[in-house]
Amino acid sequence: MTGYVYDQGWHDERARLAGLEALWDAGTRSLATRLQVGPGASVLEVGAGGGSVVEWLAQVGATVTAVDLDTRFVEPLSSATVSVHALDVVADALPGGAYDLVHARLLLEHLPAREAVLDKLVAALRPGGWLLVEDYDWTGFGTDPGGELETRSIEGILEFMRGAGHETNYGRRLASSFAARGLVEVFGEGRSHVIDAAHPGYPFFALSFAQLAPPAVDAGTLSADDAATMGPALTAGEYRIITPTLFAAAGRRPA
Ligand SMILES: C[S@@+](CC[C@H](N)C(=O)[O-])C[C@H]1O[C@@H](n2cnc3c(N)ncnc32)[C@H](O)[C@@H]1O
Repeated sequence: MTGYVYDQGWHDERARLAGLEALWDAGTRSLATRLQVGPGASVLEVGAGGGSVVEWLAQVGATVTAVDLDTRFVEPLSSATVSVHALDVVADALPGGAYDLVHARLLLEHLPAREAVLDKLVAALRPGGWLLVEDYDWTGFGTDPGGELETRSIEGILEFMRGAGHETNYGRRLASSFAARGLVEVFGEGRSHVIDAAHPGYPFFALSFAQLAPPAVDAGTLSADDAATMGPALTAGEYRIITPTLFAAAGRRPA
């Protein structure tokens, strides 16, 4: 298997995605607002996932084209101003073009073909349009308390993801990748949180582990004993989590 390792059909996938929305939507909205997304803007949302960003873009008056490999969660958002397309951003052409904003969050880091996909996203912009991409850098990720079990378990999951083509620290390279493509007014930022189990973002980590531990054990990157100890502890909310850093980069196609 290469590319995205999570399954939209997994029984708790919508709740997992809701966790990441709770962590990152406020910052994404703030960035999009800074890029002057508003009424009449035409936006391509790539890897739309659970659809919270699509929903917000429609609320502020943008016309949204939402694409994902699996559109089960965004299909209900279809409307006069939201069109939904099931496609593979690696293999398929993107719909339309000349967008005011192209946005992708937590997608490119998963794709071995991320550089070619980035080229496609740039090509979909109108001259002067903004590209906004957000991806993790897992360098700072950890648990408190944290020890050998936690370090081995986290590394076991990340190693499994790397086996499918995930780049652990991709987020930190975004701004340079934008500049190398000739985008202008490029800027970047990183954000992270320290959360406990009461935070609505906590399920993202517990459910990500629950979904990936079995295939990681099968692949030999995580021991069954570690999975059987760490999984229940995470689910029981025994940790404070230092999230990965979500890096964002923005840049404009030259006018
Ligand atoms: C981690 S989720 C992020 C969802 C959303 N962007 C967010 O941040 O809330 C990644 C999304 O990308 C989609 N995806 C993965 N590989 C894809 C591909 N090759 N083409 C299109 N979408 C893809 C997945 O189906 C999933 O919905």
